[in-house]
Amino acid sequence: QNCQNLRGRRILITAAGTREAIDPVRYIGNRSSGKMGYALAGAAAGRGAEVILISGPANLPAPPGVSITRVETAAQMQAAVLAEFDTVDIVIKAAAVADYRPELVADQKIKKTGNTLTINLVKNPDILFELGQRKKQQILVGFAAETKDLMIHAREKLTKKNLDMIVANDITLPGAGFNIDTNIVKIIHKDGAVEELPQLSKQQVAEILLDKISTLLTKST
Ligand code: C5P
Repeated sequence: QNCQNLRGRRILITAAGTREAIDPVRYIGNRSSGKMGYALAGAAAGRGAEVILISGPANLPAPPGVSITRVETAAQMQAAVLAEFDTVDIVIKAAAVADYRPELVADQKIKKTGNTLTINLVKNPDILFELGQRKKQQILVGFAAETKDLMIHAREKLTKKNLDMIVANDITLPGAGFNIDTNIVKIIHKDGAVEELPQLSKQQVAEILLDKISTLLTKST
């Protein structure tokens, strides 16, 4: 058993995708299932951490011992994350946050009138970028799901968002990505070091990631 090497630590994990309302019945969403984030939350609780899971809509039960806040939109996720940020030691942002939301949310169901329909989108706040700006002692870990130029984009995000680690996955590979139980990831560290993991269950990826984080914590305290 992986001992209790996160005992006494507070860890905030975000999971699943956000939903951005178009009208009372429709939304813009994405294919994130929440499996990776929930696996991380369960594994961190197993190691004795106090876990705050902030989740978009997902068909998954809260892992035992995890305190869960359910949100829908990026704005709600941002508020929930910022409310906890100052009190945590570690943040892992496994959520797939919508980059854009409809500029206006129709208060009635949109009727099918014209042959085309245009919905104007505006940019959502980048929550992790904001955390990178505010960070003091916290360890910040992001995820980068890409369909091409994985390492280029992942390294860019690591730097731009001021992260300690980013978990990069090419979601086009069979055995990786959304809504399945396995993942194939590369962990990129702040100093540029890269660790390539084979196809593993999301539980195994979670344990390895938490090992890396524990190592960083023992170095920094
Ligand atoms: O969407 P992007 O590829 O930039 O996501 C990289 C990381 O940033 C992920 O960890 C994601 O949870 C986070 N993110 C965020 N707020 C956004 C977009 C992404 O916190 N609006």
